[in-house]
Amino acid sequence: MCGIVGYMGDQPAYPILINGLHRLEYRGYDSAGVALLDDAGLHVHKCQGKVSDLERHVAGLGLGGTVGMGHTRWATHGSPNDINAHPHVSSDGDIALIHNGIIENYAAIKEELAHRGHTFRSDTDTEVLVQLIADIRRSEGVDLPEAVRLALDSVVGAYAIVVLDQRDPNVMVAARKSSPLVIGIGENGEHFIASDATPIVEHTKNVVYLEDGEIAVIERGKGLKIRNIKNQEKTPFIQELEMHLEALEKSGYDHFMLKEIHEQPRSIRDSLRGRLNLAKGEVMLGGIKDYEQKFIRAERILIVGCGTSWHAGLVGEYLFEELARIPVEVEYASEFRYRDPIVHEDDIVIAISQSGETADTLAAIELAKGRGATIIGICNVVGSSIARITHAGSYTHAGPEIGVASTKAFTAQVTLLTLMALMIGHKRGTISGSRFFRLLNELDAIPGKVEKVLRNEAQIRYIADIYKDATNALYLGRGFSFPVALEGALKLKEISYIHAEGYPAAEMKHGPIALIDEEMPVFVIATKGGSYEKVVSNIQEVKARKGKVIAICTEGDRVVRDLADHVIEIPETPDPLVPLLSVIPLQLISYHIAVMRGCNVDQPRNLAKSVTVE
Ligand code: G6P
Repeated sequence: MCGIVGYMGDQPAYPILINGLHRLEYRGYDSAGVALLDDAGLHVHKCQGKVSDLERHVAGLGLGGTVGMGHTRWATHGSPNDINAHPHVSSDGDIALIHNGIIENYAAIKEELAHRGHTFRSDTDTEVLVQLIADIRRSEGVDLPEAVRLALDSVVGAYAIVVLDQRDPNVMVAARKSSPLVIGIGENGEHFIASDATPIVEHTKNVVYLEDGEIAVIERGKGLKIRNIKNQEKTPFIQELEMHLEALEKSGYDHFMLKEIHEQPRSIRDSLRGRLNLAKGEVMLGGIKDYEQKFIRAERILIVGCGTSWHAGLVGEYLFEELARIPVEVEYASEFRYRDPIVHEDDIVIAISQSGETADTLAAIELAKGRGATIIGICNVVGSSIARITHAGSYTHAGPEIGVASTKAFTAQVTLLTLMALMIGHKRGTISGSRFFRLLNELDAIPGKVEKVLRNEAQIRYIADIYKDATNALYLGRGFSFPVALEGALKLKEISYIHAEGYPAAEMKHGPIALIDEEMPVFVIATKGGSYEKVVSNIQEVKARKGKVIAICTEGDRVVRDLADHVIEIPETPDPLVPLLSVIPLQLISYHIAVMRGCNVDQPRNLAKSVTVE
């Protein structure tokens, strides 16, 4: 969603800000803007569209200044137009502000400010905040940091903000509540601010993550000071960034999504590293060690997440129920949080989130935590909000995921869930020693098998070409493959805008079968294992209605080959591990179809990478 970048130092700020905004594009946005401070004062430029539109908009203006900030906006309050784009400026023209999040009580504040003579140009909650800061600054006669602090004290909602005042060009103020901000400390007194580390990593590895309720004041020549909303000073905790610049580059691939699909052998291997010990026959998850006994004794597991993370949660349900014999409920975080769910103190809640910032997942965790449950996080972004508010957890080591459509994060999440279910199942004695060891070995072999699936890309591209003009598609699977069918359908609709539905294969006859005709591609996951024969029958049902079947089947399966229009073979693996392989061709099919249809694969329309509003 919205992205923030800020800079104060001795270099020209504009190129740093534009480069930072390009780094933030992956989050999804619909307008962009910059504010720069130079000797002549504040210069604000913003427009609807992409960062490249903004660059065209300011071309030839020769924007100077060594302090400034930039923003990408994903519209919430008011449509995505030039006026609603950030930065917003106070009516006296002095103060500029960029904001991620939502000011919930903006209407009441706006009314009060209107009574006091303020007028508003935009429909945004953000403009209300900048006017409030300007109003306080003038009426209380305080400096910018104090005006920001007092204003934030009366605000309800979520925010990450950066504020500049042309009367004080050597000060930049930033603050956060429920929306992340990271400050980079560079050489020679340079400072960077960003909503995530991606715009910072090429400048410095020394960062400070702001905590909720903290206000950062960066002053030229004096450095960074942090205080909280109660005006208590805090010592900045400087950490080393574990991100590498290469992870933010396409490295020769046409799109981040394709690069990330191809990274999966590595990302799964990294997620297993140090956790799977074949020699000792052990799974070790250091991050949840302190809660292991609670986990082993749990009578129920609740899994919460959104989007692809929710699909990973569904795979988790099958894993925990089969391997650890613990009942599992998987909930959309957004539904869970608003329906007064029954949560017990001895429940384990697993919260899954790539970004670690999804607003609904955060709220669901807070609710469950408030009711005494133990919260285990599975997050990809180190130091993210969800990683911090959970009791314990394990990071997926997928590395930064830039493509909006999640790929390597999904397989890393499923890898972690598999490790957890195996570990708990083994300790509860619900799987035999021999099955446990066999699954450990099979899991260890998965990265190599993913590599093998990726080698089928040319064939997958060929199939994509045949179905690229479809208007609908159906994805079917049973058991462990049902969540993969959902994920396959989600991938296709997200990036190619083809309507697609995932269904448990047997449910097809209760509705979707009515849609099947010779135009309808039906992707069926039909690997050898538990419900293989049943799925073969489902394929026959589709063929009887002239549907086109693209089957993901086990290597060498003649039966499915003879029935289906196309087969994509994957190596044999036990049922619980099939999702890690069967999802790969579905990711690739969606990717190639989207490219062939001319879609913006990495930044699909209307979607955001990290959904920080509910
Ligand atoms: C957005 C993204 C999806 C992601 C979902 C949940 O919709 O576009 O790719 O699966 O949010 O995000 P999270 O970061 O919590 O996994």
